[in-house]
Amino acid sequence: MGCFSIKCGLLAGSVFGAVIAILGGILIPVGDMIIERTVKKEAVIEPGTTAYDNWASSEIAVYRQFWLFDVKNPQQVVQEGAFPEVQEKGPYTYKTRYLPKANVTFNPNNTASFVLPMGAIFEPSMSVGPEEDTVTTLNLAVAGAYSLLPPASHILLDMVINSTNSSLFQHRTVKELLWGYNDPILKDTIGLFSPYNGTSDGPYNIFTGKDDISKVSIIDRWRGETKLSFWNDTYCDMINGTDGSSFAPFVDKDVPLYFFSSDICRSVSASYEATMNLKGIEVYRYSLLPSTLASPVDNPDNKCFCRNYETTKNCTLAGALDISSCSDGRPVFISLPHFLQGSEYLREVVLGLHPDEEHHKTFLDVEPITGFTLNFAKRIQANMMYGPAKDITVLNKVKDYTLLPLAWLNETATLDDKTADMFKRELISRIDMLEIVQQVLLIAGTSRGRAHGNYS
Ligand SMILES: *[C@@H]1O[C@H](CO)[C@@H](O)[C@H](O)[C@H]1NC(C)=O
Ligand SMILES: *[C@@H]1O[C@H](CO)[C@@H](O)[C@H](O)[C@H]1NC(C)=O
Ligand SMILES: *[C@@H]1O[C@H](CO)[C@@H](O)[C@H](O)[C@H]1NC(C)=O
Ligand SMILES: *[C@@H]1O[C@H](CO)[C@@H](O)[C@H](O)[C@H]1NC(C)=O
Ligand SMILES: *[C@@H]1O[C@H](CO)[C@@H](O)[C@H](O)[C@H]1NC(C)=O
Ligand SMILES: *[C@@H]1O[C@H](CO)[C@@H](O)[C@H](O)[C@H]1NC(C)=O
Ligand SMILES: *[C@@H]1O[C@H](CO)[C@@H](O)[C@H](O)[C@H]1NC(C)=O
Ligand SMILES: *[C@@H]1O[C@H](CO)[C@@H](O)[C@H](O)[C@H]1NC(C)=O
Ligand SMILES: *[C@@H]1O[C@H](CO)[C@@H](O)[C@H](O)[C@H]1NC(C)=O
Repeated sequence: MGCFSIKCGLLAGSVFGAVIAILGGILIPVGDMIIERTVKKEAVIEPGTTAYDNWASSEIAVYRQFWLFDVKNPQQVVQEGAFPEVQEKGPYTYKTRYLPKANVTFNPNNTASFVLPMGAIFEPSMSVGPEEDTVTTLNLAVAGAYSLLPPASHILLDMVINSTNSSLFQHRTVKELLWGYNDPILKDTIGLFSPYNGTSDGPYNIFTGKDDISKVSIIDRWRGETKLSFWNDTYCDMINGTDGSSFAPFVDKDVPLYFFSSDICRSVSASYEATMNLKGIEVYRYSLLPSTLASPVDNPDNKCFCRNYETTKNCTLAGALDISSCSDGRPVFISLPHFLQGSEYLREVVLGLHPDEEHHKTFLDVEPITGFTLNFAKRIQANMMYGPAKDITVLNKVKDYTLLPLAWLNETATLDDKTADMFKRELISRIDMLEIVQQVLLIAGTSRGRAHGNYS
């Protein structure tokens, strides 16, 4: 007899459901215990575990996509003090983090040390044009010298600017602006990320989690120190959490995730936003809260990140982090792209910016059982400051301090389909163990049933 009727389907469903419910009642506590024990073992960073393979591998492609800001009215800014008007140009995409961690050492105190070698390879197929495309951008040397030198030396600086035929703006190729060019004023190589190739980040010393899994991946030391020395304050100088690539297993969505990012010279936290499905795997999406870059007026914790009363309107500006103390004094400010979540003022003195939550926010997708970050988009913008100076010809029409966006980037990685399948299989193969337990229970159940039958 066929079973095509709705009634039959419902019946089959309810029987199946009842079986699941009964088995589930028994299996869930046992299963959870097994899963928990396995995950905790596999999450330790030591040779042989899944976490180690993940950690040591540099196979997942990480891309850094850059959008450069092209200044449309350089003449008017210099000659009439107009607000600069910018237009983004990009993406110019580089593959990065393809070099494995170097000098990996496991220490007896359950920590591991390593350095992250830097490298970037241009990906023409993911870019709008060649690296030789040009943009009109801020003259980094002029803006840098303006901030670093005392006003008394401005006359001298003006002469150097003139004699090198420099101005407040310059034409540079994408490659030059990002990776360095020989500057006529400083007679040195400068660029947004110069030097990059051949340098490394770290050393890092992180906890392996062997003695305490809740500490896995947490940074113990960076550059040999347990705290930073950029901010002259115990709160701002904290090195909190991991590097963001993984967290302790069994993630609790009510607790924010902490991580440290050397690019922005500080620790940040991300909060749970939603549960998403990433290639069949359930992940928690975490994103930075607007309070992260809020002005100290709204978030008093941020007081120590405000270093300069003059250029920040007495620390009332939101959305820009002054990282000059970790960039050798150069007036570099980090923000979200297009000054997303930043003060209106920032977008009033630079025209052409269009912040958009969806395209410009930073988020990470964390698989809650293992704590691995399986997908992320880290989006930041690099800006440089300049301001009025009566003795510098190219600045004497400028009306106020201006944070000029130079470029924003989206650094992303997503686990590929192959890894996603492997990940599911790995988790499932652990869960397969449950099947054995299930078999045992079934055998026990049927033999008990048979014994019962014999007696009746
Ligand atoms: C690894 O350590 C050696 C010896 O201390 C050092 O010479 C080398 O520069 C280190 N490698 C990196 C990438 O830092
Ligand atoms: C662990 O050992 C390393 C290397 O000796 C050391 O730098 C680090 O401070 C130690 N960390 C802890 C938490 O003991
Ligand atoms: C960095 O090194 C890689 C690999 O050697 C090379 O392909 C790339 O062009 C270099 N990038 C820069 C900016 O020099
Ligand atoms: C340099 O100064 C001379 C004389 O004041 C002026 O004519 C010239 O335009 C200046 N050059 C630049 C690049 O500003
Ligand atoms: C000086 O700058 C002007 C405009 O920026 C340019 O047209 C000219 O070729 C430059 N001269 C030299 C000698 O570099
Ligand atoms: C660091 O902060 C202390 C007070 O917390 C202050 O007295 C000192 O001048 C600051 N140092 C620097 C270099 O800013
Ligand atoms: C560092 O972590 C602690 C909690 O462990 C938190 O209270 C503090 O706000 C964090 N600091 C920064 C700078 O994020
Ligand atoms: C900053 O505060 C000082 C003292 O309260 C005040 O004199 C100054 O005008 C303020 N500057 C700005 C840009 O608001
Ligand atoms: C990075 O973000 C930008 C803006 O949303 C987007 O256009 C780009 O496709 C993203 N890159 C990747 C690799 O997803």
